[in-house]
This record gives sequence, structure tokens and C-alpha cells, in this order.
Amino acid sequence: PYTNLYSEPLPIPPTKSPLKTFTFPNQAPIDYYEIDIKPLEQQVYPGKAKTRLVGYDGVSPGPTFRMTKGREAIVRFINHGDLANSVHLHGSYSRAPFDGWAEDVTPRQSYKDYYYPNQQNARMLWYHDHAIDHTAQNAYLGQAGAYILTDSEEQAITGLPKGNYEVPLTLASKRYNSDGSLFTPDANGVTDNLFGDLIHVNGQPWPYLKVEPRKYRLRFLNAAISRSFQLYFEASGKLGTRITFNVVASDAGLLLKPVASTQLDISMAERWEVVFDFAGLQGQNVTLRSNANIPSVTPYLHTDKVMRFVVGSTVTDSSNNDALPAKLRDVPFPPNKNGLDHAFEFQRTNGEWKINGVSWADGPEARVLAKPQRGNVERWELKNGAGGWTHPIHIHLVDFQIVSRTGGDRPVLPYEAVALKDVVWLNTNEVVNVIARYAPWDGLYMFHCHNLIHEDHEMMAAFNVTALDN
Ligand code: C2O
Ligand code: CU
Repeated sequence: PYTNLYSEPLPIPPTKSPLKTFTFPNQAPIDYYEIDIKPLEQQVYPGKAKTRLVGYDGVSPGPTFRMTKGREAIVRFINHGDLANSVHLHGSYSRAPFDGWAEDVTPRQSYKDYYYPNQQNARMLWYHDHAIDHTAQNAYLGQAGAYILTDSEEQAITGLPKGNYEVPLTLASKRYNSDGSLFTPDANGVTDNLFGDLIHVNGQPWPYLKVEPRKYRLRFLNAAISRSFQLYFEASGKLGTRITFNVVASDAGLLLKPVASTQLDISMAERWEVVFDFAGLQGQNVTLRSNANIPSVTPYLHTDKVMRFVVGSTVTDSSNNDALPAKLRDVPFPPNKNGLDHAFEFQRTNGEWKINGVSWADGPEARVLAKPQRGNVERWELKNGAGGWTHPIHIHLVDFQIVSRTGGDRPVLPYEAVALKDVVWLNTNEVVNVIARYAPWDGLYMFHCHNLIHEDHEMMAAFNVTALDN
């Protein structure tokens, strides 16, 4: 067992810089980046051999992109890894050829240039592998990283901490073999879940972070392949009491308004951002915990613990430490719609993961389950079929609003009600309705379960956005 909890510092992934900028008369400049997918070795498990991973630029999680709305980018992903790859920028309305379509794979020793518009509002996106049948393997071995897009509206809010006070926290949960190598889905024929017993933040199991007694913006991304979390904070001076924080942003950027909460539910691929105030907690340890028992999620000895914040006594910079405004932004919620356009059931049938009985492997025609007209608003029902599983459902291209959740223990959560999202957690028995405008591009896009084991075992389908004149 792993015993070194909270003994290693939280790693912060490097920030990616462009190699060059393309300029052209009367055109906005376009930045050009290169990412080399290659193996790396990390001392993850103390007392065991180093673990071999394969990551973007040979780091895991990958380097963080810091982008500004309006500045387009091209990223060349060069594959020096073990398997074919495909890159999805999750949260971007990328054109279909640059969206990481599962079969659009880049073989080893070759590359693909991806074009990213960066025209959406500020948000935390992430880039990760999406290769057919091996998404779980590739993402679990390290091909996942943060991609942070900002805009002037977000920058103007002085209650949102910046710089060292803004921390991306990428969660993962993994399992190791006795020799220190990763226990991987491919080598072990995993077809249902790989929960993992070690909780990692930014690649380090149970790290600590020294913080000052002031506000921080914590940007959570759950990059685990099968584990969902219900996070809460507890201070050493008052064990057993959950500290209140403000949820400020979701998958699609700032919420309508800050929402005070003592728990943050985060399933795979979700991004939730909170402003947490360490003022008044000088000299204490604040531990980030997760509920020990979550329906359909296997617990292990320490999976109710995530990381620790060690609160110092001095504030070196008090900028962007202001109170949050009552309203954060005008969120472009789609118009309400009562009738259902589609109902999808996510179900295990004869040992296979399917959507309405269809799997990706059924082929290019059968897997197209919706054809929204470009620009139209549709209401989809997403239902977790019987059997006691949990499925976070991701719809590519769009930002959706969660308008109902029934069937299980949870209603639409207060912070979900003021958010736009691109993934929604269908916990056991839950049925969720989501409304989105299918725009701005036409083309074939995927939707699927973001338990990457389920996704690879074909709980994935497509929708075809069609232009009005088709
Ligand atoms: Cu984050 Cu289709 O994936
Ligand atoms: Cu699933």
C-alpha cells in the first residue's frame, strides 16, 4: 500500500509556448505550437521502480495551454508514442476534421496539425487522446492536459484570483502492478471499470500545496478513466466540518453567478472551478476529501482523500482577492423547449456497452443516432439504464443546459442550474434532460460515455449536424 500521503509537493505542469506566429496582411495572427507525444519515466510509487508513461511533450499531465479568445492556434501533434493517436480538444467547437474523431488516427512516427478557433468564451478545456479502442489506454498513460482559454470579460472580474493563486488541479485514479508499472486496461483486458486505488493530482499521488491565507481559484478537471468524486474540504482545526466555498465556473466557463456549496460532485471529464478562501485558516492543514461511498464507484483504503493545502501565515500579494460579484456573466442559455427530440438510454446489453442498443462498432450508418439541423435547438433525454453503473455523458461540439434530473438521489445541483456544460454525470438510475443549440458548424460529431473503458467498448455514437439547405 501507498503510505506517503501529503509528503510530495503538487506538480504544476509547464505552460506551452508557440514556436512561431503566422502573420498575413489584414488577418489576425495565428500561433503555431508543436507537441511531441513520447514516453517518460516517473517516480510515482515510492520504493518501486519508475513508472513508464507516454505523455504530451513527455510530461503527464501534458503542458498547459494558455489561450486568449480571438487568437487562433494550430497545434502539430507528433506521435512518438506506442499506439496510434487522435487528439480531442474537449470543450472546443472545433471543426469536425480537427475534433479528434476516433477513426481519424495518426499512426506512430507521423503527425497531424489541428486547427483550434479559440472563439468561445473563457473556459477550461482539456486535450486528450480519442483513438479508436485505445482512448482509455492512451489517456491513462498520460495523454491528457489542460487548455485554459481566457477573455477580457473574465479578466475584468477582480474577485477571480490569478497567477500563482489560480491552480489547475487535474485528478486521476490509477492502479499499479507490484513492480511499479501501471496496471493498464489493455494489458489486463479491462472491459467494465478501472477505478484505481491511488488518487493523483497533476500526476502526483496525494500531494500537498503550500498556500497563503487568501482566496484561490481552483480549477478542477476529473481526468480519471472510471472514478467520480464528491469533493469537500476539511480543516485540521475543525475536523468533521465541511467548509463552504463558491463554485464559479463549469465546463463552458463562468456560471451565471457564484454558488456557495460544501460539496462538489465531479464525474469524468467534468470541469468545475471554485474560489476557496484560506483566510482565517493560518497554520492549519486543509484536506481535500471525497465521499468514501459513491454509488457504483468502488472505494479503496485512501480513495476518500485527494490532497492537502498547507496554509501559511502571510499574504504576499493581495490583488484579485476581492469579493465575488453577485453576477459573473450573461450565460447564453438556449431557449427552453418541452418536447423531446431524442431519448438515449446508456445500457449494458449482453456484456457490451451500448446507446439505445447501438454500439460504435455497428458501423458508419447505424451509429448516427441524430441529425440536428444546424442552428436548431434540441432537447435530448439521457438515461442511465438499469444495472447499477455510472455514466458521464459528453456531447461534442455544443454547450448544453441541464434542465432536469430524475430517477436517482440527486436533483439538478444548484451550481449545475446556472451552468452550461458539455458533460453530465448520470449517476445510478438517473435520467437527465439537456437542451443545446446544434451549431456553429455542420458535420459528424461524437457523443459517448466518458468512462473511457465504456467508450472504448463502444458506448459511443455520432450525430450529424446538417446545413439548412441539405
Ligand atoms: Cu473528452 Cu469525446 O471526449
Ligand atoms: Cu459509462
